[in-house]
Amino acid sequence: MPSTTHVLKGLEGVYVLESSISMIDTEQGALYYAGYDVRDLVERSNFEETIFILLNQRLPTRKEYLEFTSLLRESLELQPLHIETIKHYVSRTDILSLLSLLMVLEGGGKKGGDPAEKRSGIDAVAKMASFYSAILRIRSGGEYVPPRGDLNFAENMLYMIDGEVRNADFARVLDDLLIIHAEHGIPASTFASLVAASTLSDLYSSIAAGILALKGPLHGGAAEASYAQAMEIGNPERVRAWLESALSEKRKIMGFGHRVYKMYDPRATIVKKIITGIENYMDSDVKRLYEITVALDAYGQEYLAPRGIYPNLDLWTPILYRTIGLPPDSFTALFAVSRSAGWASHILEYWMDNKLIRPLHLYKGQYPKKYIPLELR
Ligand code: SDX
Repeated sequence: MPSTTHVLKGLEGVYVLESSISMIDTEQGALYYAGYDVRDLVERSNFEETIFILLNQRLPTRKEYLEFTSLLRESLELQPLHIETIKHYVSRTDILSLLSLLMVLEGGGKKGGDPAEKRSGIDAVAKMASFYSAILRIRSGGEYVPPRGDLNFAENMLYMIDGEVRNADFARVLDDLLIIHAEHGIPASTFASLVAASTLSDLYSSIAAGILALKGPLHGGAAEASYAQAMEIGNPERVRAWLESALSEKRKIMGFGHRVYKMYDPRATIVKKIITGIENYMDSDVKRLYEITVALDAYGQEYLAPRGIYPNLDLWTPILYRTIGLPPDSFTALFAVSRSAGWASHILEYWMDNKLIRPLHLYKGQYPKKYIPLELR
């Protein structure tokens, strides 16, 4: 019988698969998608190309890029049943739950296991984006707006939310956010999608499993939780006192800490750089959020950095989301839109040499026990 030392809680430090999709350099603090530095992709590429890189682990040729972007745009189109489903549920549940429901419905009747199913991967990411945009639009009282052929992915997402072509700078910020959140190795949500995919469930249902795992505040829900935390703090002058009391109550500070980065999250550094480029778009509320975040970043490190707990991207991303006008309860759903590219890529890669994921547990109860009939108890 193995000893309790065999139990690695939370699979901490456990390698569960080999992959060529991304590399997190925890020495230098850098993130690579199929070898391409995510900083280069933010500076010089876009989310469409990033999806291609994750699905194919290489850059597209010019011809492939044009074909790929038109497939994505085609898949952005929604059907009447999608719109009816959104209209029926949009005021009855939260955005992320509705997004996962729509993905489950997309998976209806489909089969899993074919690593060549790249078309489904492309379709799933595009559907996640148009579901997200249509949910926001319909929730705010608008009618569904189909995507336009002359707009790129991020521009179409904002257009499908607002029904008009917005500020090009906002679309660039959204595109950067989509690139930054697209992939990060095997966090809980990717592992959840792989567990589902390893049973040969279909790609859409496996993505739905990823969405539901992303929801929690320890993972993808952290950006919404970090925004709520900043609202609770209220102003930058209160940060230090709030922090001392939160830490004395053993609260987890949202936007701090990471299972893999025991340093400043390199994605947070990228987000901070993007923020400096859009300061003139910040309204007074976002400016206050920014000041609170600056103070929390500094004071939080004073208390937590000595324990290897540093700011992560979720501390800073609410500033970008709010500057481009996205509702505070939609941040995790946007994270899911972006990460569906990573989930789809890992699912298809895993199906190349599929193995059912089925770990063990160490039973610590007694057995066998004698059954006593109810009338004798
Ligand atoms: C994401 O894995 C990924 O790649 C995820 C992600 C991705 O791109 O997919 O990067 C996205 O999820 C980023 C993380 C967002 N989450 C948060 O910001 C929520 C706050 N963070 C913590 O909940 C925590 O840091 C985790 C969950 C992110 C990581 O925690 P671990 O590795 O499971 O470590 P732990 O919870 O066991 O903490 C170890 C110690 C504990 O103290 P002790 O019990 O030993 O005394 O560190 C403390 C923790 O209490 N600690 C914190 C803390 N994070 C850890 N204390 C206060 N505030 C924190 N944020």
